[in-house]
Amino acid sequence: MLEDFIAKVRSSRSVRRFDESERIGADSLRGLAEAARQTPSAGNLQPLRYVLVSSANACERVFPCLGWAAYLKDWKGPEPGERPTGYFIICSEKDAAGMPQVDAGIVAQTVMLGASAAGLGACILGSVNREKLGEALDLPDGMDILFVVALGRPAEEVRLEELSKDGDVRYWRDAQGVHHVPKRTYDDVVVGEYFDEQEKENTG
Ligand SMILES: Cc1cc2nc3c(=O)[nH]c(=O)nc-3n(C[C@H](O)[C@H](O)[C@H](O)COP(=O)(O)O)c2cc1C
Repeated sequence: MLEDFIAKVRSSRSVRRFDESERIGADSLRGLAEAARQTPSAGNLQPLRYVLVSSANACERVFPCLGWAAYLKDWKGPEPGERPTGYFIICSEKDAAGMPQVDAGIVAQTVMLGASAAGLGACILGSVNREKLGEALDLPDGMDILFVVALGRPAEEVRLEELSKDGDVRYWRDAQGVHHVPKRTYDDVVVGEYFDEQEKENTG
């Protein structure tokens, strides 16, 4: 049902605080890569490559390379105990043909939805110190890091809100620690509709 899918997309929010006591397994990461390799790709060139991280040691090396929630000025990112326990790193071959950035966006959302289906939380990160991360994981030179998707057992509540009239898109955290994310309304984002019903109304 389309309604069920919409509800799944709605509940698949960016999560930035996790329960680090429950680590995600290799099987989850491998499953997400299995989904990722079946996503659409411009020209079907499939330039993307993935690095899967779940060992505590490697997670510790990845974490300092990431930038968290730029709008939350007083928050430096998840504390020890609430950090991601896995990372799905989306790379492409250097100077790859096609549209690797677009392909990567499709994969990133697929990973978000897959994580949510597995009861995990996730956050796509574009704020990445790529040089440092490449060194931390000893990635081959011929590889560009596009995005990192942080993963783990979610330990925060995220709620969608309607964007206020002033158009402020900044998310915020309330006194109870709930994270609120303003979204544009249907009428804001759908700027054209050409349906049979309307054409009949217009001409009728
Ligand atoms: C391409 C992309 C890059 C992002 N980079 C970061 C990032 O570097 N750090 C971060 O904390 N969140 C990042 N996010 C998450 C966004 O902040 C988040 O999607 C937005 O606040 C809306 O929240 P929602 O995903 O729950 O709808 C990124 C999201 C996307 C799609």
